[in-house]
Amino acid sequence: MFISFEGIDGVGKSTQIRLADEYLRARGKDVLCTLEPGGTELGQEIRNLLLHRKGDVDPRAEALLYAADRAHHVATVVRPALANSSVVISDRYFDSSVAYQGAGRKLSAKEIRDISLWAVDGLLPDLTVLLDLEPTKAAERRNNTGQEADRLEREKIDFFEAVRNEFLKLAEAEPNRFLVVDANQSPSEIFGHISKKLDELLRS
Ligand code: TYD
Repeated sequence: MFISFEGIDGVGKSTQIRLADEYLRARGKDVLCTLEPGGTELGQEIRNLLLHRKGDVDPRAEALLYAADRAHHVATVVRPALANSSVVISDRYFDSSVAYQGAGRKLSAKEIRDISLWAVDGLLPDLTVLLDLEPTKAAERRNNTGQEADRLEREKIDFFEAVRNEFLKLAEAEPNRFLVVDANQSPSEIFGHISKKLDELLRS
C-alpha cells in the first residue's frame, strides 16, 4: 500500500504522518515513512541544492531536480519496500511537483505530470491525503515553528494560493485516489478522517 501526504508548507503533514504510522503499526503493518525531496542519500544532496543553496534556480532546472530526486527515491526505496509488502508513506510525492512547479512556477502542469510519471515509471499512490488550509493560516503555523524559512517557504502568499488551488484541482480530477481533509481542525479531528479512510483500505 502506497500513501502520499500533500499540502502547502505548514498544513501539519508531519504530525498526521506520525499518527498514520502509529495507527498502521498498531494494526500489524510494516510501515516505511519516507519523504521527498531527500528520501535517499543522493536525495539529501538534491534537497540541499533545492532548498538551502544561495541564489535562484531556473524553474525547469528546479522541476528536473525534484524529478531526479523522485526517480532515485522510487527506484531504490519505495518500490523495494512495496515489493516487501510494506506500507510506504511518503511525505510529498509527484502531486507536489505538479502543484509547486506546474502552478507555482507557472510551467505546464501537464508537462510536469508527464516528467514526474516518467521519472517513477508510472507508480501512483493508492491513497493521497491532501491537507487543505488557507495560505495565510499555513504561514502563521510556519512562523510559529521558529525554524528558518527555506527557499520555497520564502515565496509570497499568491504563490501558495496558486499551489493550493492546483492541489484542489488535482484532487477533484482524481476523487478515488485523493482524500481532502480540512486542516483547519485539531490534529485528532484531522486524523479521525484519515483513519476512517485507512480502515477502508485495510479492509479492501
Ligand atoms: P517539505 O519537506 O515538505 O518541507 P519541510 O521539511 O520544510 O516541511 O518540502 C520541501 C519543499 O519542497 C516544500 O516547500 C515543497 C517543495 N516541493 C516542490 O516544490 N516540488 C516537489 O516536487 C516536492 C516534493 C517538494
